[in-house]
Amino acid sequence: MPNRGLTWWQELIRLHSQQETPCHGKVAYTILDSHLSTMSNPENIRKSYHHGELNLSHLTADPIDLFRQWWKEVLDANLGEPNAMTLATVGTNHQPSARTILLKGISEHGFEFYTNYQSRKAMEMEQNPNVALLFFWKELERQVRIEGRVEKVSRQRSQEYFQSRPLGSQIGAWASPQSKVIEDRSVLDDAVTRIEEKFIGQDPLPVPDHWGGYIVRPHLFEFWQGRPDRLHDRFEYILENKGWKIQRLAP
Ligand SMILES: Cc1cc2nc3c(=O)[nH]c(=O)nc-3n(C[C@H](O)[C@H](O)[C@H](O)COP(=O)(O)O)c2cc1C
Repeated sequence: MPNRGLTWWQELIRLHSQQETPCHGKVAYTILDSHLSTMSNPENIRKSYHHGELNLSHLTADPIDLFRQWWKEVLDANLGEPNAMTLATVGTNHQPSARTILLKGISEHGFEFYTNYQSRKAMEMEQNPNVALLFFWKELERQVRIEGRVEKVSRQRSQEYFQSRPLGSQIGAWASPQSKVIEDRSVLDDAVTRIEEKFIGQDPLPVPDHWGGYIVRPHLFEFWQGRPDRLHDRFEYILENKGWKIQRLAP
């Protein structure tokens, strides 16, 4: 392909308009294909951040208030699954593990989520209650990191939330031995059938003993706003005796 210093799409338009070659369709395909293979290399994927900035005047004394402001903006922006967050745990073998879960409550006490109390994450939190949460709202070019200690919520709170879920999700929570190895899909299908028979005609179901909520009580927050040239804004809040200490971090 002649290199005239054109982008792949400029070259396509040029070929198309000049009809330079009788097989320009094939040439066009080759250019597009070479562009796609270049873009499939993560090294070539770049994005510049211009959405906004974060400075001292935006900060609140309590990080939960700033989190709530950002949360409102996330909701106003109508993003898909805005409550999806990463939960990182570390077991006794010091091996970190991370997975996506859904935020189900925000209060001055912390951040709530629900899961299986016999899952890998639950075992790790039992051994080591120090966890990290991570939100990435890419459309707003924002990230929030949270570190804290996790506790189970009350049985009553778990039951309230469990029973607010659709019946199918309640049955799923009863049926799935989360994180365990299973032979095949039929193990789940059979478990669902057994649960449906056990609770026939009931809605809502009682909350299973092996399922419930946790609250992460934070002692560290970091608010990150993407800026041009990788010179992002970062502010960290650390909980000390006197209250929250705030400092700017280099990007
Ligand atoms: C968008 C999304 C939301 C999820 N929400 C939850 C959740 O709220 N609770 C949960 O236990 N698992 C949730 N999962 C599944 C977890 O990522 C994970 O597969 C599961 O909890 C088992 O993790 P573990 O084996 O490390 O305990 C979600 C996954 C995705 C992709």
